[in-house]
Amino acid sequence: MQIIHTASALRQALKSQTNIAFVPTMGNLHAGHIHLVEIAKQHGQCVVVSIFVNPLQFGANEDLATYPRTLEADCDKLKTAGATIVFAPTVEEMYPDFDGNTLNQTMTITAPPIANELCGASRPGHFSGVATIVMKLFNMVMPQVAIFGQKDFQQLFIIKQLVRQFNLPIKVIGVDTVREANGLAMSSRNGYLSVEQHHQASQLNQSLQNIVTQIQNNTQQNHIVNFHQLENEAIALLKAQGWIVDYVSIKSALTLSNASGTDSHLVVLAAAKLGNTRLIDNIEFLRALH
Ligand code: PAJ
Repeated sequence: MQIIHTASALRQALKSQTNIAFVPTMGNLHAGHIHLVEIAKQHGQCVVVSIFVNPLQFGANEDLATYPRTLEADCDKLKTAGATIVFAPTVEEMYPDFDGNTLNQTMTITAPPIANELCGASRPGHFSGVATIVMKLFNMVMPQVAIFGQKDFQQLFIIKQLVRQFNLPIKVIGVDTVREANGLAMSSRNGYLSVEQHHQASQLNQSLQNIVTQIQNNTQQNHIVNFHQLENEAIALLKAQGWIVDYVSIKSALTLSNASGTDSHLVVLAAAKLGNTRLIDNIEFLRALH
């Protein structure tokens, strides 16, 4: 496995590769990331994993400074997993006009309107920052296949639009969320949780599971599903359990617009904080309409 820090060395290493599967990450790798690498191996001979904590996608009051950076341990895991190349660039490499203070990335990808909803409502500019760095990474790696986790459902949705609307010759593959035994979606941010919070954090997934069960039961019995009521009940319960809820939302999985009575392919998404730690989760599911 090669560890590469510059775009020019990366281009050199990839010169004769025609079958590249790419996994972009911000590092501090856990079993969810490694699962993406396993899937990547099924889709490309050469598996490139990038590790870059992207300043452009963090808001002013977010955790850019404290985001865990564990390059050495990450490389050990990737070697074991069978990655071909780790691309771990510096901020200067990714942002050529960075002056040590300001990124000076004056040209950016304008994210679609959906980027202002769900996570985007409380994280303005986040998805534009994600789309911009993913476009830069795509330009450097030039993969045939790119692998993303469904855990970041809205991010995956926006990346698919990026690839489509910029006519990129890249196949985007979404991979199921890897969870801990208690149902908690694996995340680099889980490391911020105390032992007690870690225990409690399973409530987020439980509240989503509960919504799915209720929608399935109501649908089976031919009852009209009151999506708003289900969202509000879940929010109230999470609040009572001590969470600071950002949103719980039931959407069409195909469009991410509000779910309607005729949608059979749905996704229920949530973001909430335990203490200072913001966690997200979602469940995508089908229901049989009569
Ligand atoms: P990061 O949070 O490191 O996630 C990297 C990839 O791993 C993403 O595609 C994410 O959806 C996936 N992932 C995270 N947790 C997962 C889990 N429990 N199961 C399965 N997949 C999981 O997402 C980012 O980095 C950044 O925004 C990035 C796309 C790299 C752009 O900077």
